[in-house]
Amino acid sequence: MTLYDGRIGGKADALMEAINRSLPVDIRLLPCDVRTNRAWARELARLGFYNPGELADVERTLDEILALAEKGAFDPLPEDEDVHTLVERLLTERLGDVGARIHTGRSRNDQVACDLRLYLMEALAGLKADVAVLVGKLLELVKAHRGTLLAGATHLQPAQPITLGHFLASLAFALIRDAERLDDCLWRAERCPLGSGALAGSGFPVDRHALAEALGFSGILDNTLDAVGDRDAAQEAAGVCAILIGHLSRYAEQFIIWSHPAFGYLRFSDAWSTGSSMMPQKRNPDAMELIRAKAARAIGSTVTLLAMTKGVPPGYAKDLQEDKAALFDVLDAARLVVKVFAEALGSAAFYPERMRADLRGDLLATDLADRLAEAGAPFRKAHERVGRFIGELERQGRDLMSATPRELDERFPELGGQPFEMSFAAAVERRRVAGGPAAASLSEQIEKIADWLASQKP
Ligand code: ARG
Repeated sequence: MTLYDGRIGGKADALMEAINRSLPVDIRLLPCDVRTNRAWARELARLGFYNPGELADVERTLDEILALAEKGAFDPLPEDEDVHTLVERLLTERLGDVGARIHTGRSRNDQVACDLRLYLMEALAGLKADVAVLVGKLLELVKAHRGTLLAGATHLQPAQPITLGHFLASLAFALIRDAERLDDCLWRAERCPLGSGALAGSGFPVDRHALAEALGFSGILDNTLDAVGDRDAAQEAAGVCAILIGHLSRYAEQFIIWSHPAFGYLRFSDAWSTGSSMMPQKRNPDAMELIRAKAARAIGSTVTLLAMTKGVPPGYAKDLQEDKAALFDVLDAARLVVKVFAEALGSAAFYPERMRADLRGDLLATDLADRLAEAGAPFRKAHERVGRFIGELERQGRDLMSATPRELDERFPELGGQPFEMSFAAAVERRRVAGGPAAASLSEQIEKIADWLASQKP
């Protein structure tokens, strides 16, 4: 017995089954499908298709199916094409015609769209909570390292002094935006497609608003064709996850570089490092490397989801069945990566003295040019004079830090003998601009991160 024996005779080709069958992937939707079935059964009861006793049987049987699934205690048959078919078969085997009546007025098209959104709502909320945990860990580190001086870089080249706290806060703010994007995405995902039928809506007067409410949606998708035929919620969620993992991949890369002995700025604990089967000395930052790689996969899955609907005629087409593998992949990656990043980072030891040892005088070049600009020199000219001075020092194997007050006075007489303050801490403190690394600016950032975290507590 297959779903469409009435119309399509004979057995499907084995290869047809192989390409058509989605159960191995969509079995994950079973708990969502049980919820969708329960809401649907209640609506059918309201419309008179089930009497109260039959409805109770359906609900009890759905509970049993869920319990069996949780134990992995049933074997799907080859003809269980997908999770919806499976649940319907199990219901029908147990309840006969009462089970066979469950598909009244609905289609797998609205069913799968509904299940998928339920799944998405849970996954996005869970991911958001994980992001908040990571931001919390970052906040602790930002506070601990508000004064840890670090050679800030552009192009991975030493640029200007900042603090490790400032550096880590930059990631916290990126993650807060990611969490906002998750919220925004959730807000749109929370619209219920159920009752849309195959495309034209159920042939029975189901109350779509009541169904939406029963299932915890905030409202309904307003057009039945759109409701079954679009996958933008999945595409958007994947894109948001890809941006999030992309953020983490950049900081992962920085930590990989810093864990190289040439830097030695940080060391991941043993629990988050791996060795080599051949080279006994190795200590590899595999967790961070895998985060980098997961970013590639998340981007790939997002592209798959976007390409999947391109040019597909409006409404449901089987192309849309391919959404789940890609969506699950990117959601799984996001949840894993956020947790791993938080734990690995939390376990890492930072070495401020190594960071300090890499602070070279040239990091103060902009500050010197700024002082000249303050004294009246056009900045472009000040830049050129400082650049030339640094070039000369470099040829003598020196850097700006080694310049004597006298040399500075000779080269830059407009400073009026005021020795230019050669201090990294002073350079950081001069950057009191909002969002900058100075203590006061960073305190404001710390407060903002803490406020955001407080707003996330349920
Ligand atoms: N397994 C299918 C999917 O995930 C369910 C919808 C099938 N609908 C249909 N008309 N063949 O998309």
